Amino acid sequence: MNTSPASSPFSTLYAALPRIAVLATGGTIAGSAQDATSTAGYQAGVVGVGQLLAAVPALSTVANIHAEQIASVDSKDMSLALWTTLVQRVNALLATEDIDGVVITHGTDTLEETAYLLHLTVRSTKPVVLTAAMRPSSALSADGPLNLLNAVSVAGHRAAHGQGVLVVFNNRIHSARDVVKTSTFAVDTFQSPEVGALGWVQDGRVEFQRSVVRPHTVATEFASGPASADAWPAVEIVTSYAGATRTIVDALVQAGVRGIVVAGTGNGSIHAALQQGLADAASQGVAVVRASRVGSGHVMHNGAASDDALGFVTANSLNPYKARVLLMLALAAGGTGPAELQRVFDLY
Ligand code: SIN
Repeated sequence: MNTSPASSPFSTLYAALPRIAVLATGGTIAGSAQDATSTAGYQAGVVGVGQLLAAVPALSTVANIHAEQIASVDSKDMSLALWTTLVQRVNALLATEDIDGVVITHGTDTLEETAYLLHLTVRSTKPVVLTAAMRPSSALSADGPLNLLNAVSVAGHRAAHGQGVLVVFNNRIHSARDVVKTSTFAVDTFQSPEVGALGWVQDGRVEFQRSVVRPHTVATEFASGPASADAWPAVEIVTSYAGATRTIVDALVQAGVRGIVVAGTGNGSIHAALQQGLADAASQGVAVVRASRVGSGHVMHNGAASDDALGFVTANSLNPYKARVLLMLALAAGGTGPAELQRVFDLY
């Protein structure tokens, strides 16, 4: 039974309940194990969207839900084809007057990549919220149901308009640009290092404490991203570490990659042998982006002294996985050359 917003603690500013599309893609939130005490040995993505919604009766007091099963994957297997489908479906739904916002249920493992992709390619100011769970739906104290209720509450709230794509998890609201998974098991795994969460949601109350300053959604230059799976430029990630060599870079160049993101040490520094391989790749027209494997902070551009001479771009505060998303979008949109790509990385 629906209750009016006025009588519900889940206060929105809509005259009627907001119409929220819930798009399910799989993940642990849709996972199931043999017994309730198992939080690690389970199969992800086996519970359908209807069952996920049925586990949260309070959703009917928050929104009118339109549900779609987009996929049923463990998000480690997220693909460019599925990304393309998801971006196109979100944009199609938001373009109609029948939908006020979108919630996407997703695995935690690659959630930050999908969220950042949508942050740059959603063509609407309506709220888009990703959520997930660390414990399968069958677990004692499963976190998925409350995360889902909170995500729908945020997606149905006017304050979420124009904030870009959001990640709602463990009562916090994060920007897709900043959020990263930080723990393999803890329910507070999603954090926004350096900058913190945008706000919080509890018992239907939604509060934003800051807003997003970098351009996103309708303000980007990437339209809806590549139109098909084979239109995505090949971009791979390599890592620098003690004893690193250039072998992988040479193989990637040989395979015809358009870009390489390097997860460097510290301030994106790179082992000399690997760096020589990357400099040779850059001289052959491969886009090379220096990011850091550290997990927080930013990578300083070293200018004429090294980055410019080597043809390298720096990732600013994006981690290597999000830097890869941005580099793929920039290359797909026709961006070429270190100066142009550095503009993109400094902006987004
Ligand atoms: C996944 O990413 O699909 C599995 C792990 C999770 O959702 O926590």
